[in-house]
Amino acid sequence: MENHKIAVIVGSLRKESYNLKTAKALMKLAPEPLSLELVSIAELPMFNEDLEETPPLEWLSFREKIRDADGLLFLTPEYNRSIPGVLKNAIDVGSRPYGQNSWDGKPAAVISVSIGAIGGFGANHHLRQSLFFVNVPTMAQPEAYIGFATGMFDDNGILTNDSTEDFLRDFMTAFGKWVAAHAVKQIA
Ligand code: FNR
Repeated sequence: MENHKIAVIVGSLRKESYNLKTAKALMKLAPEPLSLELVSIAELPMFNEDLEETPPLEWLSFREKIRDADGLLFLTPEYNRSIPGVLKNAIDVGSRPYGQNSWDGKPAAVISVSIGAIGGFGANHHLRQSLFFVNVPTMAQPEAYIGFATGMFDDNGILTNDSTEDFLRDFMTAFGKWVAAHAVKQIA
């Protein structure tokens, strides 16, 4: 099967982020044709359309990395029943300038990880709303709302629960098929 480069975008900037730890665990669980690379959103200046005349280098580099990817994997915390501002900023930066939407057509999946009981459901679906608008075909099933993240990892960042690991492996297998079915290489 053809290899696919997946840009992994984590909506938390925290060093000990459970979403980041989950992303790292997924790198080990992903099936062979997927190659996962973290794409940082930490340094992206806040979107301001006035800056498009001379866009910040961080924007240009981020847009290039997204354009270069065959698929997208989002991991997001839930902040006040929505996505963190840094993640929304990244979506806005990637979607512009007008007519040059870097996200266009890239197959994606969303995982929300929260310390709470409902696994970031609100954030997961707010993110899908924006992805829908920027024309990102987002895998519907399986869904991934991962709650009670506090006990999910040991001190070395290894998943402590076999059933969570099995679920994530199955999720990545489904995502691999989704990407294979929908991947479109963009011609620059
Ligand atoms: C939270 N948290 C949270 N959790 C949740 O399930 N629903 C929510 O609406 C919120 N709201 C919220 C707002 C703000 C400003 C913070 C800082 C936190 C808790 C959140 O799930 C927890 O901090 C996670 O650990 C964040 O994810 P990372 O950083 O571990 O990936």
